[in-house]
Amino acid sequence: MKPIRPLPPLVVNQIAAGEVVERPASVVKELVENAIDAGATRIEIAIEQGGRQLVRVTDNGTGISLEQLVLAVTAHATSKIESTEDLGAIATLGFRGEALASIAAVSRMTLVSRTADCDEAGRLDVHGDTVTGPQPASGPPGTTVTVRDLFFNTPARRKFMRAAATETARTTRTVEMLALAHPEIGLSLSCDGRVTIELPPDQGQRRRVLDVVGPELDGELLAFSLSEHGLVISGLAGRPGIARGTARHQIVLLNGRPISDRSITHAIKEAYRGLIDPGRHPTIVLFMELDPQQVDVNVHPTKAEVRFRMPSMVHAAVLTAIRSRLREADLTPSFELQRVVASPAGASDFGSGVAAGRASTAEFVQRFRMLDSVQKGFVYSEVKQALAAEAPELLAARDDVGSGTAVGEIEILPTIKQVREVLQVHCSYLVTQDDQGLLIIDQHALHERVMFETLMEAVGRGNLESQRLLMPAMVEVEPSQVDLLDELRPLLTRIGIEAEPAGPAAIAVHAFSSFLFERRVEPSEFLRDLLDTAARDGVNTDPEAALHETLDMMACKAAVKAGDRLSDREIAELLEQRERVERSSNCPHGRPTTLRLTIRDLEKQFGRS
Ligand SMILES: Nc1ncnc2c1ncn2[C@@H]1O[C@H](COP(=O)(O)OP(=O)(O)OP(=O)(O)O)[C@@H](O)[C@H]1O
Ligand SMILES: [Mg+2]
Repeated sequence: MKPIRPLPPLVVNQIAAGEVVERPASVVKELVENAIDAGATRIEIAIEQGGRQLVRVTDNGTGISLEQLVLAVTAHATSKIESTEDLGAIATLGFRGEALASIAAVSRMTLVSRTADCDEAGRLDVHGDTVTGPQPASGPPGTTVTVRDLFFNTPARRKFMRAAATETARTTRTVEMLALAHPEIGLSLSCDGRVTIELPPDQGQRRRVLDVVGPELDGELLAFSLSEHGLVISGLAGRPGIARGTARHQIVLLNGRPISDRSITHAIKEAYRGLIDPGRHPTIVLFMELDPQQVDVNVHPTKAEVRFRMPSMVHAAVLTAIRSRLREADLTPSFELQRVVASPAGASDFGSGVAAGRASTAEFVQRFRMLDSVQKGFVYSEVKQALAAEAPELLAARDDVGSGTAVGEIEILPTIKQVREVLQVHCSYLVTQDDQGLLIIDQHALHERVMFETLMEAVGRGNLESQRLLMPAMVEVEPSQVDLLDELRPLLTRIGIEAEPAGPAAIAVHAFSSFLFERRVEPSEFLRDLLDTAARDGVNTDPEAALHETLDMMACKAAVKAGDRLSDREIAELLEQRERVERSSNCPHGRPTTLRLTIRDLEKQFGRS
């Protein structure tokens, strides 16, 4: 064996770069983080050819003095921490003192920097292990770091870089995440001379999030906040309708740092449980501020993961913050119809016609009478306007037109909520109204949600009620499914089912859930479906999740189906339950139970606005 020798510093730094500098986006991340730590309020980023040819980051932060330039690119030299104790409470994004040294070891780097109290900038060039400078140069206060020819001297790494477009996309994502984490900082990104991101400084959280994820989401994001045990949580939670197939729009920021944390992801998923399909991911931007002593950021090479000192407190707080916001929101999605009335001129000009003097009050009263109750509801504001202009004495005679008092012969509807006229359409949908507009309810989806919540409540109190069968119900199954029975037994007990093997390919159901029994669900059919699902997908190892899935299945089987004609009483009951049940806006699979066509949209359709 050859003798042991210390490695040359360049090689040491190149090895370190292997951990920290994976691709151009990591260079951008490190340089922007340095700029943020330097107190910059504006940061300009430029890349060429996906960053393979050039990455340049310019900031207006504190700068580095000429004498300190060499130290800045020296490994394990940092201005951010001094002692072991400091490692316990890291308040900056960087602290290891290795990013610039690592990047310089695998590229051609130029640093130009000037501090506020200096008239002149300093410049340092590092190409592999040749260092030129520091020497005086011209430049504004702040720092510009230019990184050319990334991985020029480490061919193995160079090979792993992707096409320029892919690297550009990764850099864009990195910049977006840092921009979300710091709405107070102005940021721009230009790719091959074209500006692709331009964000002004001092944006609030909401403005910044909308600028990054898309302004069209404005009405879809619910602001939440919570402060507990020194943890300050805030952010924007997307309505269930904008959940995505990927977790790209699920962003978690801790103390100004984008992080990924399984426990927080779990808390988010849990908060949305039942509101979105389990395979989808909510759109959410979560900001957390926590005393740096409560979190260890020194556990991952690129600091993308952290370790909380009180992980269950953090989990609970995140879950509560988001869940309670979703609970208080009306999550019934509105749907927009395409405008069918081309010109408002052709549309009926009910109230405004009166106001413009084109119709007499008598005519107006006549026409108003002919409207049905829904229409009366939405002409209300116009009625008020028209009366104020044409017949103020009618308004004056009554205290308030809007409160349901009679105006002359006109009965103006109070809030529509109290009206309970419901139409069952095609034995599948219920059509009714609330104070915002027309509601269209999917009877199966809503009933399923109601059943599910009822079941959840019942298992919360103990095992579900069970009913003994006079004759056991026999289920023919695959021999392998008989073995599954043991695994399923704790679950079956919780839902009130008692079943035993009855031969190599048969199972006997001795007792069945009263809930399912009352709703005429066949014991053998239910058990076969349960076993088929377990055989296909495996039994969920998390008992709560397994229970959840099973209750879901029970609710689906017990609920009224599309095509079932409902009696008036059944309809009334269902709607009453809709008000009582939490999360009635979505079925347990996350699909909506109700759609709303708002009065505002109707007005648009009829050319009234
Ligand atoms: N844009 C900048 N403005 C001012 N000072 C900077 C800038 N970039 C780097 N520095 C100085 O150079 C030092 C080294 O930077 P480097 O990124 O290598 O290490 P770090 O930020 O301290 O830790 P880490 O390796 O975790 O990023 C910093 O501690 C800082 O003092
Ligand atoms: Mg750094």
